[in-house]
Amino acid sequence: MNKKISVSQIQEAAQEAYELYKNNTDGKNADYIPYLANINKNLFGISICLLNGKMIQFGDYDYKFGIESVSKVHTAILVLRQYGAHKLLEMIGADATGLPFNSIFAILLENDHPSTPLVNAGAIVACSMVQPQGNSDEKWNAIVSNITDLSGSAPQLIDELYKSESDTNFNNRSIAWLLKNYNRIYDDPTMSLDLYTRQCSLGITAGQLSVCGATIANNGNNPITKEQIFDAELSPKITSLIATVGFYEHTGDWLYTSGIPAKTGVGGGIMGVLPGLFGISAFAPPIDSAGNSVKAQLAIKHIMNKLGLNVF
Ligand code: DON
Repeated sequence: MNKKISVSQIQEAAQEAYELYKNNTDGKNADYIPYLANINKNLFGISICLLNGKMIQFGDYDYKFGIESVSKVHTAILVLRQYGAHKLLEMIGADATGLPFNSIFAILLENDHPSTPLVNAGAIVACSMVQPQGNSDEKWNAIVSNITDLSGSAPQLIDELYKSESDTNFNNRSIAWLLKNYNRIYDDPTMSLDLYTRQCSLGITAGQLSVCGATIANNGNNPITKEQIFDAELSPKITSLIATVGFYEHTGDWLYTSGIPAKTGVGGGIMGVLPGLFGISAFAPPIDSAGNSVKAQLAIKHIMNKLGLNVF
């Protein structure tokens, strides 16, 4: 994208979005994970990382919240780094399911592969693929150091969230074992599920997510550390995965109204990628019925529409 847009225009649009929506009270914290139900529902932050490393940020952009499903993007990138684009397509897939993030039905419908690393089934498979296989500690180190590379600083495990998720992840346990039944999980199912649950429980800030979005938008080069994190040719593959299923069954509506590929998490975070321009993240805990932050969606849509940017 080569539309000319000034830093002050972006700053103005982000500030306007922050002021417009900071008092919005729609949505409700995720309540199926006890830790998330108790987070302060008024938290709200916006962060934009430009490709020259300039950060534009408002509100609680430095608050560490549960990364949740946004981490599916990070681990998909790790699998792409370790296996390449073709293997990811072959072993996981790159399709939309059109169904909720934790759908078991989606696995039954498409039992030759789990569709995409950005829904629960595919994300658990991605964790099973992380190398070195068979070694939970080393796999975990690879997952965390990949997130650190992409974000420019380390995420931190929120122990209470990890416990809360592990105590309540019955549906995901079924998914892991159903994948085993179809020979579509490539390491121990219990270990793979635990890695997935742990990665969802990492604390991350909107600032860190915007840097990760910018690294994807910048062909794999982290604008803050200036390090090349992954091969430039993987960048459009990652953006295509995000564009296809980043909002699960509401992905089409999201793209139609915002024009930016983005990935959500039930912790209230959204990470968007605008190739060639910036990475963006907004965070606010109350979510809608599909598990997507109400205020973060409103804020990102406002910024995109105000700036007249649309990836399509
Ligand atoms: O698998 C789960 O239930 C969660 N730990 C992650 C779900 C999530 O963030 C869905 N996305 N909006």
